Parts: sequence; C-alpha cells; structure tokens
Amino acid sequence: MPGLTIGDTVPNLVADSTHGKIKLHDYIGDSWTILFSHPADFTPVCTTELGKMAAYAPEFANRGVKLVGVSCDDVQSHNEWIKDIEAYTPGCKVTYPILADPNRDIIKQLNMVDPDEKDNSGKPLPSRALHIVGPDKKVKLSFLYPATTGRNMDEVVRVLDSLQEASRFNYKIATPVDWKQGDPVVISPSVSNEQAKEMFPQGYKTVELPSKKDYLRFTNVKNVN
Ligand code: BEZ
Repeated sequence: MPGLTIGDTVPNLVADSTHGKIKLHDYIGDSWTILFSHPADFTPVCTTELGKMAAYAPEFANRGVKLVGVSCDDVQSHNEWIKDIEAYTPGCKVTYPILADPNRDIIKQLNMVDPDEKDNSGKPLPSRALHIVGPDKKVKLSFLYPATTGRNMDEVVRVLDSLQEASRFNYKIATPVDWKQGDPVVISPSVSNEQAKEMFPQGYKTVELPSKKDYLRFTNVKNVN
C-alpha cells in the first residue's frame, strides 16, 4: 500500500502537542497548512530547521498558512527542546505546535517514517517529511528528505506561492522552473488559445519552438486578481 501522497486527504488524527490535544482537521480548518516532521528532539539539523521555521512564521502567516511540527519524543521533551531552538535563533519564538508521537502512530499515518533511522531502542524515526495541505485537507505537495539533509525554507515558501497561485487561477496556470512570486507564469496545456485570450486579457506570449507546437505560453498575472 502506498502511503499518504499528493491528492490524499490527511487523516483526522488526534495527538498531544505543545499546544495541548490537537485534532488535525479542526486545526487545519479552512487554511493552508504545512505539516513537517523531524527525526528527533535535541539533534543538530532539526534544531536549525525548527529555528528557521520559527523565523519564517510571519512569512507563512502572511500567506494564511498554519504550521505544525511532528517529532517522536513526548511533549515534555519538546518543551525543553524549544528552549534550545529559541536560544539558537535569537528573537524567534516557536509559536507553532509540535505533535508528540511516542508510539509512531502519527508518522505512519502521515507517511513520514524513515526506513533507515532508528532510535536507541530500535523504534523507527521520522524522515524530514513536509506536506503542504490545502484548505480542502488534501495533500498538495510533499518533500521527503533523509535525516542528513536539512531543508531550505526559501524553497518551502517558493513552492507554497506556486501552489497558491495555481489554486487562485483554478489550476489554469502553472509555474515554470525557478519561478518566484511576481515572475510570469505559464498557461496550462488544458487551456486552448481561444480560452487563453478570454482568461488572460492582459495577453500572453507564445515561445516559438522547433516543433512549431504552441504549448509554451507565458503570461503576467502579477497584478491580476
Ligand atoms: C539531526 O537532526 O542532526 C539528525 C538527526 C538524526 C540523524 C542525523 C542527523
């Protein structure tokens, strides 16, 4: 059975957290939500990642996005660890909840188990998984990194902007390589040229290609609502 992946509804799990008991669907409500896991508390890469997530919390809040971390240790351990994270990232507070998962039920349900990482007692540990969940509670994007590779928060913001932009245009646009907020977008292949003229009155540019197929069409939606 494949685990939770793009298009799946996240399970409505209930978990203890640093903010008390959380029922996941209630927490998500009708917001975009980033669910991210870490191998273990009091580990070096994780401390840098959670600190950076705290530093970027205003970026996510501006985009209407909620955050929730997952690590296997218990809530008491998370609360102790938060003091280290905040000391490492001065001026930043960990305002998002971190779920506790001592029995590994949550990481299994969220497809966050790292097959290679085990704790001292041989229990599985989470990978650096990150799911971006839409207001419909479906997974829109997932990252899966091993314990040895810390993530890049600018990339998390970038892909979030792409997802929200595509959603804003009802998935009739997509974002090309290295796209950043404000750059031109491409028009989806499902949109005919006739439809594109109506949908994008600001116009669009078709790139001439050796195939003579007119599928690479750029338009600017920067100030378009
Ligand atoms: C870390 O967060 O630094 C880490 C955790 C588990 C394995 C390797 C690195």
